Amino acid sequence: MKQTLCDKAKEARNNAYTPYSNFKVGAALLCSDGSIYTGCNIENASFSPTVCAERVAVFKAVSDGKREFSAIAVCGSPKGELSEKLCYPCGVCRQVLSEFCGEDFKVYVMSKNDVREYTLSELLPFGFELE
Ligand code: THU
Repeated sequence: MKQTLCDKAKEARNNAYTPYSNFKVGAALLCSDGSIYTGCNIENASFSPTVCAERVAVFKAVSDGKREFSAIAVCGSPKGELSEKLCYPCGVCRQVLSEFCGEDFKVYVMSKNDVREYTLSELLPFGFELE
């Protein structure tokens, strides 16, 4: 499943809309029911409306009624082939993931030749929660 998620993240990255940064990101989110939702980053001339690949994947899944997730694979680098640098989810995406994903949710962070595995709580200790 890890390999499938990584392959789907790479495939999704091909759809990234990045005329401003040329930095292309892909994500593939595994739901507890086995379905997979993908996302790519979508930029905007006004910059701040830009959305990250991870959030696109989460919002697609949530808007389809999914609420339970087990893992996400993320890859990103300047356009072209993936680079040697690992692409970690940004802080906002970590917080969005924490809304729906438990502490043992897995995050597969990819580079060209490497995949590192983290739990969400490793990447986001002390995330924001309302009382
Ligand atoms: N980006 C993502 O898609 N995911 C992240 O976790 C960090 C950044 C995108 C947003 C923007 O289109 C480009 O990468 C450069 O910041």
